[in-house]
Amino acid sequence: MGRYPFFLLTFFFIVSSMVAPIHSQKQALALSRLYQNKVKGSSAIDKSHFKPIHHISRTSVHPQQGMKEKDRIRMLPGQPRVSFNQYGGYVTVDQSAGRALYYYFVEAQHYSKESLPLLLWLNGGPGCSSLAYGAMVELGAFRVHSNGKTLYKNRYSWNYAANVLFVESPAGVGFSYSNTTSDYDKSGDSKTAVDNYVFLLNWLERFPEYKDREFYIAGESYAGHYVPQLAHTILQHNNKANQTHINLKGILIGNAVINDETDTKGMYDYLGSHALISDETADGINKYCSFSSEETSTECEAVNEEIARDIYYLDIYNIYAPLCHNSSLTVIPRKPSVVNFDPCSDYYVYAYLNRADVQEAMHANVTKLDHDWEPCSDIISRWGDSPSTIIPLLQEIMADGLRVWIFSGDTDGRVPVTSTKYSIKKMKLPVKTKWHPWYLDGEVGGYTEMYKGDLTFATVRGAGHQVPSFQPKRALSLIKHFLAGTPLPDTSRYD
Ligand SMILES: *[C@@H]1O[C@H](CO)[C@@H](O)[C@H](O)[C@H]1NC(C)=O
Ligand SMILES: *[C@@H]1O[C@H](CO)[C@@H](O)[C@H](O)[C@H]1NC(C)=O
Ligand SMILES: *[C@@H]1O[C@H](CO)[C@@H](O)[C@H](O)[C@H]1NC(C)=O
Ligand SMILES: *[C@@H]1O[C@H](CO)[C@@H](O)[C@H](O)[C@H]1NC(C)=O
Repeated sequence: MGRYPFFLLTFFFIVSSMVAPIHSQKQALALSRLYQNKVKGSSAIDKSHFKPIHHISRTSVHPQQGMKEKDRIRMLPGQPRVSFNQYGGYVTVDQSAGRALYYYFVEAQHYSKESLPLLLWLNGGPGCSSLAYGAMVELGAFRVHSNGKTLYKNRYSWNYAANVLFVESPAGVGFSYSNTTSDYDKSGDSKTAVDNYVFLLNWLERFPEYKDREFYIAGESYAGHYVPQLAHTILQHNNKANQTHINLKGILIGNAVINDETDTKGMYDYLGSHALISDETADGINKYCSFSSEETSTECEAVNEEIARDIYYLDIYNIYAPLCHNSSLTVIPRKPSVVNFDPCSDYYVYAYLNRADVQEAMHANVTKLDHDWEPCSDIISRWGDSPSTIIPLLQEIMADGLRVWIFSGDTDGRVPVTSTKYSIKKMKLPVKTKWHPWYLDGEVGGYTEMYKGDLTFATVRGAGHQVPSFQPKRALSLIKHFLAGTPLPDTSRYD
């Protein structure tokens, strides 16, 4: 039995109730709530290996003629003028249940967008929105001003390198919904993978020009589960007759939940090695939290409370970042900066995406849902399955010859670089290119190591959990190298 983080909830609840009243710690909560359930003896959560659903009926694919043009977003309210196309709308993934996923798609800003791949980005949680994080504060084309009304350009947007698709998944996240609301209580990894796959099949009918395009899937945090699970589902179905062949070429996951045991150990070790907790506290974890039973000892609880106090005033997702001290919108936008991430950004996005004019322009919330748009879902109340490891899926995807990259922002304390290194070590892959700095603009962008098998690991120096928020230029360089299949530069001369 591994060292399970059964007390994570304790300290993350305290952190979140204190520092940020609503949004910015929501991802931490979502992940901690899941971990809590995973280790509770009484919980019904299935931790065994991913059980893919093998039979996906042809009847879940529907004609999509004319829908692409209807989804075209003429202009987002308050956006600057741009030359690329944007689309947004719903794709039904289960007609009888009335379940539909919302997507937002930005074509590449490039003289030849036809030559650039299609990239799907997924955020984690589980239950957090790819629109909230990916599109609006990380790698999307725009960021929201502090007035919550107008947008400015992100000059390090990933749509300089690819045509980027964001999906809010599963149903119950963001604008995605089900008319059969009991669906929300049946959420889990397997159902998410199937719905994402059915989404893709239908989306490709709507955008047939992307059917043969090179396709990549990327994501962060709990998408460390979603991305390999979707890749696995695609690979399984690609070989079947009468099924759309999806031209999947590779996956990229960052600060990713990979393997519960090493993820957890790596987290404590990170807190200890970054001088956030004392050596005594770090030792106490090993000594009192034996994890061999589901009972928690009072000594172990005391250590947890110590940790909670130590990290109370930190953004555990980026331990060196400033906090949001005033979440009010401003009438006149503060001077925006893509390079210096504004820790209150989540509040601006919340205000923007809840505006009726924005929802109308994006073709979102067409059925007038009875809840607000939230960055992480409040309505998904249960999570049925979450394997304790996704290493077997990564191994399978590598064996299939797909490109697999794992990156890590090295100032994240939640799914930190130590966790990722321990998880990779567990795969026992021989080193192909040994550890070295990679460069951008004559500076160290991070470190990288390549393994036979075939896997690339890369850190991003000075980035928290949401790497493109904190190191946008390094993140864009990383994605360009990943998509091109070129190693990160080992000399500052050719970056
Ligand atoms: C959900 O119900 C609404 C109202 O009846 C309907 O307009 C909508 O198309 C349904 N959604 C799906 C995905 O079937
Ligand atoms: C594939 O589709 C064709 C035409 O719709 C049909 O005749 C055939 O039986 C299908 N094959 C399989 C294996 O489903
Ligand atoms: C927060 O910011 C708003 C808008 O700039 C301002 O009106 C308000 O006084 C600030 N509140 C605090 C507690 O500083
Ligand atoms: C959808 O629209 C309704 C009615 O305007 C609004 O009350 C609700 O907050 C919106 N929900 C979402 C998820 O955007």
